[in-house]
Amino acid sequence: MGLRERLARQIRETGPLTVAQYMTACLHDPQFGYYATRPALGEDGDFITAPMISQMFGELIGVWMAAAWSLMGEPPQVRLVELGPGDGALMADLLRAARAAPGFLQAADVWLVETSPPLRALQSERLGERVRWAVSLADVPSGAPMLLIANELLDCLPTRQFVRTAVGWAERLVGVDAQARLIFVLSPTPAAGLLPLAPEGAVYEQSAAQGALGAEIGARAVRDGGAALLIDYGRAEPGFGDTLQALKAHRKLGPLDSPGEADLTVHADFPAVMAAARAEGAAAAILTQAEFLARMGVGARAEALVRGRPDVSPRIGRQLNRLVAADQMGELFKACCLHPADFTPPAFEDA
Ligand SMILES: C[S@@+](CC[C@H](N)C(=O)[O-])C[C@H]1O[C@@H](n2cnc3c(N)ncnc32)[C@H](O)[C@@H]1O
Repeated sequence: MGLRERLARQIRETGPLTVAQYMTACLHDPQFGYYATRPALGEDGDFITAPMISQMFGELIGVWMAAAWSLMGEPPQVRLVELGPGDGALMADLLRAARAAPGFLQAADVWLVETSPPLRALQSERLGERVRWAVSLADVPSGAPMLLIANELLDCLPTRQFVRTAVGWAERLVGVDAQARLIFVLSPTPAAGLLPLAPEGAVYEQSAAQGALGAEIGARAVRDGGAALLIDYGRAEPGFGDTLQALKAHRKLGPLDSPGEADLTVHADFPAVMAAARAEGAAAAILTQAEFLARMGVGARAEALVRGRPDVSPRIGRQLNRLVAADQMGELFKACCLHPADFTPPAFEDA
């Protein structure tokens, strides 16, 4: 029995699943979940991310962290944390770039927060002895300032969906039809009074997990100092829209088509993440990915990589374009910074 059959049976026995429960099963079910069993990252896999497109991405995050550490007064110990490190490329590029600041590397106690056993194995191959692993941020010891990066992690945290119907809000749930196919169904919701006003047909997404992560990082930044950079595709302003999508071999599938066999994501809800961090006393700011990378000097880094090497110039030019062009990742992707109110990290001074 595969995941589809098991979910169909479960739904028949105990009722429809929220979209958040369905996402959790598809991504993390220990036997069939996508990240638990078969994550396929990269050109030959299901999807590609910024660190896989270009070394410049991780390098500039390394420069950002080393500069933040310096601005913080060079504390003797700092937790350098990555949430959802994928194939380890970002951390490898970050640590290589940070060699330019040896004091920072010496101070850095490097932690990877990863739930996927196959990806942990890949990260271990790439990063070796330099790093330690935790399954949640709460397991990374506190008591020292933290510099944290999470690229494309918020988008795989579970989200509920609500649809505005002619008679009020209803929750979108995953049910099953007479042929045992998974289908979306709507159920009137008692939470309706808490949801915003919207025209009929609007879809509202609410991720308790994204909010909880914003609150956890914000509280920790206030308590221990440091800063966090959350980069993802998503909205900078509150809004509506159905953003649930499944990707397999770089092609979009219906979210119910291949449970456990495709990556399943939603847009990051940055306004909710920032509000949750602010409620803990932290400050929060947001830039587009293009703005953040430009402020960190991506143009100069690209020039340095091609200097004296005209053969690599077209490739580096293509990489730069994918990272920053408005019709590529530059505008859809945002860089959100959570930090204590009395410490503003580089690039976010006026954001
Ligand atoms: C889309 S991949 C991004 C990988 C990498 N950051 C990159 O940019 O290439 C999502 C990563 O988050 C991990 N992940 C998913 N859910 C997680 C969770 N709840 N806690 C920690 N890591 C998680 C996945 O295993 C994977 O490493």
